[in-house]
Amino acid sequence: MARSFFILYHFSGRRFSDSFRGFFFIPTILALITSLFILFYISSTSNLFTHPQETHLQVLKSALGSSAFSPPSHQFMRVPAETPHLSRGFEFNTKGNYVNNKEVFHDRNLFVENYKEMNRSFKIYCYPHKRDDPFANALLPVDFEPGGNYASESYFKKVLMKSHFITKDPSKADLFFLPFSIARLRHDPRVGVGGIQDFIRDYIFNISQNYPYWNQTGGADHFYVACHSIGRSAMEKADEVKLNAIQVVCSSSYFLSGYIAHKDASLPQIWPRQGDPPDLALSERKKLAFFAGSINSPVRERLLQVWRNDSEISVHFGRLTTPYADELLGSKFCLHVKGFEINTARIADSLYYGCVPVIIANHYDLPFADILNWKSFSIVVATLDIPLLKQVLKGISLNEYLMLQSNVLKVRNHFQWHVSPVDYDAFYMVMYELWLRRSSVRVPLIVLNANFKGKMKCFTPSSWI
Ligand SMILES: *[C@@H]1O[C@H](CO)[C@@H](O)[C@H](O)[C@H]1NC(C)=O
Ligand SMILES: *[C@@H]1O[C@H](CO)[C@@H](O)[C@H](O)[C@H]1NC(C)=O
Ligand SMILES: *[C@@H]1O[C@H](CO)[C@@H](O)[C@H](O)[C@H]1NC(C)=O
Ligand SMILES: *[C@@H]1O[C@H](CO)[C@@H](O)[C@H](O)[C@H]1NC(C)=O
Repeated sequence: MARSFFILYHFSGRRFSDSFRGFFFIPTILALITSLFILFYISSTSNLFTHPQETHLQVLKSALGSSAFSPPSHQFMRVPAETPHLSRGFEFNTKGNYVNNKEVFHDRNLFVENYKEMNRSFKIYCYPHKRDDPFANALLPVDFEPGGNYASESYFKKVLMKSHFITKDPSKADLFFLPFSIARLRHDPRVGVGGIQDFIRDYIFNISQNYPYWNQTGGADHFYVACHSIGRSAMEKADEVKLNAIQVVCSSSYFLSGYIAHKDASLPQIWPRQGDPPDLALSERKKLAFFAGSINSPVRERLLQVWRNDSEISVHFGRLTTPYADELLGSKFCLHVKGFEINTARIADSLYYGCVPVIIANHYDLPFADILNWKSFSIVVATLDIPLLKQVLKGISLNEYLMLQSNVLKVRNHFQWHVSPVDYDAFYMVMYELWLRRSSVRVPLIVLNANFKGKMKCFTPSSWI
C-alpha cells in the first residue's frame, strides 16, 4: 500500500507539471474537510463530548435542596459514561411535587401512528407446507401452548399463522416468512445440531427453485425467527440468509458476525407465564439487587468474585432454596448478566415481577430498542464496571427509582405472549420491528416492454409453478 502510494506520487511528480501536481492534493484536502465536518456534526448532535448527567444534576440539586438529594455528587461523576442519564427522567411541577413524565417510547406519536398503519396493511406470505410434509414438525406451528426458554420462537409462528397479517397472495406480501423452527430441528433425530446447516441450505435451495420470490430480492424480503442460539450458526451454509434476510433472533449481539444490527431484529427471550402479573403493590423490595444462575461466563465469574459475600447485592449461583418469584418481588433491581449467550429470559422475568432490570451484557442489541427507550426503565452497566455496581445502584435516588419502576410497569405488556394476541404485546411488537424493515427493492418479475423481448431472458409466470 505504502509502496504503491510512493510509486504513484513519484510517478506523478516526474511526469506532470507543478500545477498538475496540485490535483494530487485535492482528494486529501477534501477528505480533511469532510472529516472536520463529521467531527463538527458529531460534537453538535451527540453527548460524546458533554456530560449531560452532570449539568442536570446541578439543576436538580438546586431544585431539591441538598438534603433531598442523598448520594454525593462525586459518586455520580465517577460513574462511567455508559450508565444512563438517569436525571433526565423526572421533573417537578409548580408545587414542587415529583411527576414522572419520562416517556418509555422514543416517539410515542410516531409509533402509534405507524402501528395503526402496520396493523391495517402489513401482509406476510408464508411458504406453504402440508400436514404430511416429512418436516411438518419443524415447519408448521406447534399445536400445543409453547413453554420453556425458547417459547418465543414457537409463540411467534403460532400466533402469526392465525393472524390477519397472513396473505395467501404472494403479490400482496410485504415480507416472506421462512417457517422452519431451529429449536425443533435441533431435537429432530433426522437433523440434529449437526444437520441444521445442511437443512437450511436445502430449504433455501428448494424454495428458490420452486418459487420466484427468493431470487427477486436475493432473500432481502424474507425473514425467519429463532430463539435458540444455535440459530446463529445455522445459516453458515446459507450466506444469503445471513447477509440479506431479516433474522429475528434472541441472540442479538453486535459482537457476533452472524448478526447484522438494523437489518436483523432482536427477539425477546420470554419464559411464558399464565395469567396476570402478581399484585406488585404488596411486594416489599428489601434487597438492593438479585441474581441467580450458573457460572458459565467470565462476566458471571467476575460478578461472583466481587459480590458473593455482599449483604445488599445478592448473587446466587446454583439452585435457589427460595422461590425465584419471591426473589424478583423482594429486590429493587434484578440483574441480567451475560452467560453463554447475551440473552436470557431474565429481563422479561424482572419486568413481569416489577423489578428494574440491570443489564450487564455488553453489545446486547436490546429487544424493541427501535421503539422503546431502555434508559427509561432499565440500567445498563458495562462489564468492566461490575465493581462499581453498588455505587451505581445506590446513586439512584428514590424518585429516580420510582420513575424507572413505574416505567417497568408500563412496558411489561410488550414482553408478554398470548395465544390470541393482544395489541402491543410481544407478537405485535415483533411485527412492528419487521414492518420497520419491510422496504426492499424487487427485481420486476415480468418485463412488459416488448422492445426488451429477445434481448433479455424474461421470467414468465408459468415457468415457476
Ligand atoms: C389491530 O388489528 C386487530 C385485528 O384486525 C384489531 O383487533 C385491533 O384492534 C387492531 N389494533 C389497532 C391498535 O388498530
Ligand atoms: C427439498 O426438496 C427435496 C425434493 O422435493 C426434498 O426431498 C427435501 O426434503 C427438501 N428439503 C428441504 C430442507 O426442504
Ligand atoms: C433462482 O436462481 C437460481 C440460481 O441462479 C436458479 O438455479 C433458479 O432456477 C432460480 N429460480 C427460479 C424460480 O427461476
Ligand atoms: C466470601 O466468603 C468466603 C467464605 O466465607 C471466603 O472464602 C471468600 O474469600 C469471601 N470472598 C470475598 C470476595 O470476600
